Amino acid sequence: MQFPTLSNVTRKRIHITCIVLFFIAIICGLITIREVNIRKTNSKKNRFGISATELGNFESWKTTPSPDYCGIEPKSFFGAYVRVTSVDAANGVVKISTTMAPCGLFVGEFDDYSVTTSQNITLNYNNAVMVYKSGQVMTDQSGIVAIDADVNNYPFDEFSFSFVMRGTYGAAQRAVPVLALLYGAPMGYSLSFDPIANDDNTVVVIAVSGKRNLTVKTFAVIIMAGMWAMALLAVAVAHATWVSGKKVELPVIVFSITLLFAMPTVRNAMPNAPAIGILADQMVLGWTMMLLSLTVVSNFVNLLYHLHADAQK
Ligand SMILES: *[C@@H]1O[C@H](CO)[C@@H](O)[C@H](O)[C@H]1NC(C)=O
Repeated sequence: MQFPTLSNVTRKRIHITCIVLFFIAIICGLITIREVNIRKTNSKKNRFGISATELGNFESWKTTPSPDYCGIEPKSFFGAYVRVTSVDAANGVVKISTTMAPCGLFVGEFDDYSVTTSQNITLNYNNAVMVYKSGQVMTDQSGIVAIDADVNNYPFDEFSFSFVMRGTYGAAQRAVPVLALLYGAPMGYSLSFDPIANDDNTVVVIAVSGKRNLTVKTFAVIIMAGMWAMALLAVAVAHATWVSGKKVELPVIVFSITLLFAMPTVRNAMPNAPAIGILADQMVLGWTMMLLSLTVVSNFVNLLYHLHADAQK
């Protein structure tokens, strides 16, 4: 192609400007991703759900001080800090860890380092029964929760789980008031926390739902679009080879075979991609591999055709 009106010097300048702009665009893109990520991480860390909107329904307690985390209002309840640590959608489980923190009349002894509970407590929690003896520190619990997930729709799949938390304390087996706080920012997911409780906060439903975060969705879509583009270009080259009437060139054959074998690897580069077989594979991987196989076949047939034609001359 010629640019007759441009001098060589001008063309060189335009060329250099384009290269500089290209690198500036890449650097700006990287900086933007980093900044957005930092801000997202911070806002996600601050995101949480709390089961009771006000503490009014909790029993008041005035005689001894409670630990700092109980707040200034002298109320009696168990704080349940439930953190979602990781999501394994392919296996349908989520890992959570729970810290129980007694307040008010439930506090036994406490100092800056640990708090014991003053009551014998039994808590039903997800698929476990947690028993705490009076005078014991309430150790953290970690557990696995089954989720309602369908990875088939990756990267647009969603999941949710919920379970009830309730318990009893003391010889009279009174219902335990619980104030649940849900939080957590597992990698690759964006969660929403919707805990609810009954009026006296003795039945708390831990409810969490989540979907893949924007980064995962964007990368997955870009990779899938790239796979389609590569396959279609390979088809276009094979088509152009026949139309031009020329013999297919060796690099073109190598290129199409390489692409064919690269496709599953490119596909697995999608972040947190589930095993092959999901809907996205039926819409992308299957088609691109089929098109690339046809391209390889077409290139070989073209080669054979021309070898035959050359031999007949
Ligand atoms: C907790 O239970 C034990 C027996 O298992 C009993 O000795 C103790 O007094 C109970 N503590 C309270 C505060 O009720």
